[in-house]
Amino acid sequence: MQKSMQEKVLEWSGVHPDDAFAIDGTNLYEKLGLQTFINLSTNFYNRVYDDEEEEWFRSIFANSKKEDAIQNQYEFFVQRMGGPPLYSQRRGHPALIARHRPFPVTREAAERWLHHMQQALDTTKDIDSDSKTKMMNFFRHTAFFLVAGDEMKNQNKQPKPAETE
Ligand code: HEM
Repeated sequence: MQKSMQEKVLEWSGVHPDDAFAIDGTNLYEKLGLQTFINLSTNFYNRVYDDEEEEWFRSIFANSKKEDAIQNQYEFFVQRMGGPPLYSQRRGHPALIARHRPFPVTREAAERWLHHMQQALDTTKDIDSDSKTKMMNFFRHTAFFLVAGDEMKNQNKQPKPAETE
């Protein structure tokens, strides 16, 4: 029998859904504030656009302006972690699988994305370790959710509505 998307995401990410969505049990936006999210995404994308070791990863972002990528990301994080819906007001429904369709979201790409995000979390000031763990679990789940979506793209399948997050 074919594995469901949820089963694949759990197997690949190793993150149980309860942990992935622990971000919904607290309001990280209220706890950390807007500036911390701006700093985190700036830190993350500085690392991505400077990725000299893994040129293939940096090249995935070659057609995106760094400033736009930073704003898209922190507005999404703010909205998803209890803040105002800044992302949807400007860009509409996040539809993350659909928006990642142009990009090769492989397992290697997910690991590299998570590597940079872990470094960014560790070097952005004012992020306590409990918030870091909660965010990282959500990011890890979502990264492999996108990998599963990428695989469906290659099989020419559309995600079901429940799978659009
Ligand atoms: C798994 C590896 C990933 C790759 C290779 C990847 C790649 C990309 C690229 C190339 C962009 C375009 C940059 C821009 O102009 O905004 C993008 C946008 C975005 N990504 Fe990812 N991403 C990954 C994981 C994630 C994860 C885990 C999240 C959320 C937790 C995420 C959320 C977003 C958002 C919100 C946007 C902006 C979409 C838009 O408004 O067009 N991505 N990503």
